[in-house]
Amino acid sequence: MSEKTLLSLAYGAAFTGGERAVAFSELENLTPQFKNGDAWLRKNASEGKEGFGWLNLPKRNMDDVQTLSRWLATRESIVQVGIGGSALGNLMLHGALLPPYWNELSKTKRGGPRFFMSDNVDPADNRAIWELIDPESTAVIVVSKSGSTAETASNFLFFWEKLRDTLGEPAARERVVVVTDKEKGILRPFVDETGCKRLILPEDVGGRFSVLSCVGLLSAWALGIDCKALLSGAAAMDEAIVKAGSILENPAWILAGLSYLHMKKNRNLNVLMPYADALERFCEWFAQLWGESIGKDGQGSTPVRALGAIDQHSQIQLYTSGPDDKLYTILTVAQGQKDIALPAAPEKAFEKLSYLYGKSMDELRNFEAFATAAALSKAGRPVAALSISSLDAYHLGGLIQFYEYITGMMGHLMQVNPFDQPGVEQGKNYTYGLMGRSGFENEAQEVRTLSAKINERTVTL
Ligand code: PA5
Repeated sequence: MSEKTLLSLAYGAAFTGGERAVAFSELENLTPQFKNGDAWLRKNASEGKEGFGWLNLPKRNMDDVQTLSRWLATRESIVQVGIGGSALGNLMLHGALLPPYWNELSKTKRGGPRFFMSDNVDPADNRAIWELIDPESTAVIVVSKSGSTAETASNFLFFWEKLRDTLGEPAARERVVVVTDKEKGILRPFVDETGCKRLILPEDVGGRFSVLSCVGLLSAWALGIDCKALLSGAAAMDEAIVKAGSILENPAWILAGLSYLHMKKNRNLNVLMPYADALERFCEWFAQLWGESIGKDGQGSTPVRALGAIDQHSQIQLYTSGPDDKLYTILTVAQGQKDIALPAAPEKAFEKLSYLYGKSMDELRNFEAFATAAALSKAGRPVAALSISSLDAYHLGGLIQFYEYITGMMGHLMQVNPFDQPGVEQGKNYTYGLMGRSGFENEAQEVRTLSAKINERTVTL
């Protein structure tokens, strides 16, 4: 595959499935919906409608983000406080584009700060992070679009107090960056009160679609990731989607259409299985993007995170012989960066391993991916093989834009709003109620009634 190719999709084996097979003609028949969906996304994005702004991110000016990242890059450690869309994109970028075991590398090898994510409300994790950092040379980035999420607020209260007590307020404030909405939430007045550094999250971009905004790019840039290449890959992907004349030339329409049609035929699970450890976090990011965006109105397709080749030794038995309720996407990287040639061993005991001698580890990994796709196909399970030529910032940017587009398009096909998350808000509001936040008394009452129902039947051993 040429370096210039953004990605390729092999989908000949996606039309299997016996009586519930999807026919190619069904995919083609969706063409008018794809065209309408594309126009819908672009029109709303150009009008600045809430939720649609991710489509414009690759072309937005990010100079303020890059400037602030230069200061962050001089720190020994960065702690980011955020959750969901304010965390998963960062972890995905770092996992894909930084060397493995980043924090374990020497300062010279890293050439950038160590990075810690405080997302869950877990006292042990937060304490451990605090123990591992030197507050003097650390920066804390707190990210929250709404500026009020309880997990982020509580984790930030912890780090803020520790910083303040250790360094004093003026020095603590110097080390904090707030990324939040222009107007909403508690973090904005905190910036006014303390005068700490701040970046504004674009109003029209939702949390899970925000990785290519200051949310994802600030720490990525500070850690040395080529964010310009990320953005230009995303822009190139969008241009390629616009240019594609028909469904036959448009892998985004094909994958959105296959996901939709298989979902309609009771394949409600969408398995994404990359064959690269560096893409494990990509699956986590995809799972939020897909689940939160299209799980609406009693419909949805459940994202399933898998990892090749590990899940060949865990899930493939189920995938090939269990219920036919899934569409599979096997994701590979054609060109590994630092391959290993498998050495020949002199021991007689290893003679039977000679088929491996001199072979490339990367080649083995990619053959495993082909083998899995073939095994699924043999079992009559619909499978598509998606590939990028190399795992660099440019191609990852393209892949991010590709999946965001598919998600938006899937929402259009299903006639649900992919850019809201009432279910998430409901959970947040119940938590506020239970924690005694004023204005959420009804939620507190409601959740207590529901809990009583849950506890109505209890059994203990
Ligand atoms: O995608 C979303 O909107 C959510 O998952 C949010 O990212 C998540 O709930 C965190 O919200 P916030 O950034 O407002 O703290």
